[in-house]
Amino acid sequence: MGFGVSGIVQRFAEHGYQINPDAASLITQYGATDEVIRGIIESLDESVLVVGPDHINAIKKEEKQKAPDVKILKDITNISTCVGNYEEFVCYFRDRYSRLSEMIRWRINAGPIEALGKKRDEKEVNIVGIVSDVSTTSKGNKLLSVEDTTGECQVLLLKDRDVIDCNIILDEVIGISGQLTHDGLFIANMITYPDIPYSNKSKTSQLPASVILTSDIHIGSKTFLEDSFRQFIKWINQDLPGEKQRKVASNVSYMVIAGDIIDGIGIYPNQEKELDILDVYEQYERAAEYLAEIPNHIQIIISPGNHDVVRQAEPQPAISEEVGKYFGKNVTFVGNPSLIELSGVKILIYHGRSLEDFFTAIPGVSYKKPDMAMAEMIKRRHLSPVYGGHVSIAPERNDHFIIDTIPDILHCGHIHTVGISKYRGVTLVNSGTWQDQTEYQKKLNIQPMPCYAPVVDLQTMGVSVLHFN
Ligand SMILES: [Fe+2]
Repeated sequence: MGFGVSGIVQRFAEHGYQINPDAASLITQYGATDEVIRGIIESLDESVLVVGPDHINAIKKEEKQKAPDVKILKDITNISTCVGNYEEFVCYFRDRYSRLSEMIRWRINAGPIEALGKKRDEKEVNIVGIVSDVSTTSKGNKLLSVEDTTGECQVLLLKDRDVIDCNIILDEVIGISGQLTHDGLFIANMITYPDIPYSNKSKTSQLPASVILTSDIHIGSKTFLEDSFRQFIKWINQDLPGEKQRKVASNVSYMVIAGDIIDGIGIYPNQEKELDILDVYEQYERAAEYLAEIPNHIQIIISPGNHDVVRQAEPQPAISEEVGKYFGKNVTFVGNPSLIELSGVKILIYHGRSLEDFFTAIPGVSYKKPDMAMAEMIKRRHLSPVYGGHVSIAPERNDHFIIDTIPDILHCGHIHTVGISKYRGVTLVNSGTWQDQTEYQKKLNIQPMPCYAPVVDLQTMGVSVLHFN
């Protein structure tokens, strides 16, 4: 807990300084801990007698200019090995199975599928497998085909047992507990997902810092909402009226863009009719001009999406250096997905194309609640399990979609709706868009939620959502 205004006045007086009440109230916004106050006192010039708001702002600005530190923990950029042949897909799925099954084996004592035949008299049998087929029988039960490295088996989820409510997605790795009937049919009682522990707690920043999470700006499209984006830029420069607005903006050290910074070309049918800028490089140049208006002390991290100019198969490497040269020194390009660390807080960035697979596979999960699908990703410790769905998967040596390090924040975009929630200590943010409804979205009846900017306070992990009209 930080000091109140009177406590701050007293602490400064003990060091021979008077402090203006506005300056004291400004310090409360920075947390007003003993450490913060000591830092301010140590930074003061000896000539200062009365500490005013300008002194505090100058010190905090200086701190911000040197503080932001972007660590890239996982990223495919420059390490891609795949050419897309059959052997690579075999290795890719083996890697997925071996790493996720290891997580599940912490929870259940599973044996190989090939040994199932010897276990007909056992009370409970456990296996871990990758789901190769899901179907519904004429009686309303679910039938799964499940494989491990030793064999394949059929598993029945009976409609009158609770297990029928488990949502099973193709190509995901699950643990199955149940019994074998005399004729060798495996009846499931329980499904175990790799999941993260209930007790998981997120890390927080030691110093005041916030991150703006955004995505799907779609610069170059006629439906890019330029006026609202300009309002956002005014806000981040603390040029909009309102003390509360300015306070949130003053704490921002980072901005993460989870893909689709530009609209691109040829992404959906007749897109060219809706483009304002027809050249992708000019679209990036315009994007760079906007981002140059963001204060230099804010570190900007850009990950690509399906509208960006990088390979469409995922994981996608970072946007090329050729495009990168348009942008300022405070911009870092990373791949999709990628895991980064900002002020000690781990953020998993994924554009979110697979969210559409989750919407198809899980009843009740839709684009109106993208964060619900993101919780399903965490539960499965995998960002994109389905092969042959909406995501074209590049068979890299390792499965880059596996969530082995638990992030503090999972940030997605793609869906153009805002969804924010927590799942077992992980903050889930789908950050919406800066694009109005396109003709294509009208046909699909997709209603976007444009011009929202979620801001996560990295000290408290509280999320403020700002809206710019
Ligand atoms: Fe998008």
